[in-house]
Amino acid sequence: MREHDSAIAASGETLLDLTALRADTPGCESVIHFNNAGCGLLARPVHQAMVEHLDLEARIGGYEAADVRAAEVSDFYAATAELIGSQPGEIAFAASATDAYTRALSSIPFQPGDVILTTRNDFISNQIAFLSLRKRFGIEIVHAPDHHDGSGVDVDAMAQLMRTRRPRLVAVTHIPTNSGLVQPIAEIGRHCRDLDLVYLVDACQSVGQYPIDVDEIGCDFLTATCRKFLRGPRGTGFLYVADRILRDGFEPLFIDMYGARWTGPDTYRPVDTAARFEDWEFPYAAVIGSAAAIRYALRVGIGPISQRTPALAARLRDKLTQIPGVRVLDRGPNPAALVTFDVAGWEPVPFKQALDTHRINSALSYRHFAQYDFADKDVAWALRLSPHYYNTEDEVDAVADAVAHLTASRRTNERQ
Ligand SMILES: Cc1ncc(COP(=O)(O)O)c(C=O)c1O
Repeated sequence: MREHDSAIAASGETLLDLTALRADTPGCESVIHFNNAGCGLLARPVHQAMVEHLDLEARIGGYEAADVRAAEVSDFYAATAELIGSQPGEIAFAASATDAYTRALSSIPFQPGDVILTTRNDFISNQIAFLSLRKRFGIEIVHAPDHHDGSGVDVDAMAQLMRTRRPRLVAVTHIPTNSGLVQPIAEIGRHCRDLDLVYLVDACQSVGQYPIDVDEIGCDFLTATCRKFLRGPRGTGFLYVADRILRDGFEPLFIDMYGARWTGPDTYRPVDTAARFEDWEFPYAAVIGSAAAIRYALRVGIGPISQRTPALAARLRDKLTQIPGVRVLDRGPNPAALVTFDVAGWEPVPFKQALDTHRINSALSYRHFAQYDFADKDVAWALRLSPHYYNTEDEVDAVADAVAHLTASRRTNERQ
């Protein structure tokens, strides 16, 4: 799979049958969906797998339906493992990326004075979780500086901090929610492995968009949602836990009867696999839908997806850059398919609503979503447009035209 991917990348070809992929995506008929970084459009087989399971639950009962569909449920682990190069036993289902992340964090026995080393571009909820840990346990949060070339965290400076501060945890977001920046997670991982530091990667915006290989990254934990570039259902995500971490006895703070055996009145024993990080109760239709979405992404091919998706975003960025009053905010050499910009003379909500009327789906980010990045860029709000492989070049052009039209109309109004 991976050799095949790199062959496609090397030839620069796109092998996607867009007509078939769009026919498989009913939402393409209704909207120009440029909010895949929020939630991707469901493909038909994913929708169908979930509806069939709900029907089965209604007909024979929820527990009984889960038994009948045990193979599809267990395929969630096999498919996710195939997607990220792990073993199925290293995968836990989660309700969201944040749920996966906090379960991972809760397994680290922080002591007062422990250091979390992170970046200025880590996701808002992760930063809030670190602050909460600081409030409760007296840990210290250290943000590695960014590289002056705009490529995200300065890896050498971060490695130096690893050596001098010996953090209890190194935490890095691959692609933040508020820009197309792609951080060098594998380079950071090599330092973590050399120094034997626990390494947690937030790959929420990169799974389904780029090839992800946990061995290459060298992470101990990796978190993601299934609903964004994997095009799975809402309310789903996963946590990868490296086997070495499981063997070292890391377990979530609140472990339930599924994650552990109650071995005696005073004792319990965590299960051997990453199921230790799961709860008994599961949204089975959503688990089956996630498995279907991951299988779908694997069939389309992560290689071609990772070629086409950022290329569509690059086309959009090029066009937006040429529009007076639009400031494109993404930095880094090869930004991902999260295109962010602000617009002179517009308030955020009316601007987004104006795009809504053209049936263009987008998302807003505000200053408090990215206290470091947006302060550096002096951003009060930004609009995020995030295409995916099933979008077309014509849609990119239509969206750029709509933005140009809106900014021009505001300039005209100002002159009147
Ligand atoms: C980089 C990043 N990490 C984590 C999350 C949180 O994901 P979830 O909403 O599934 O908890 C998001 C959501 O936008 C994100 O962009």
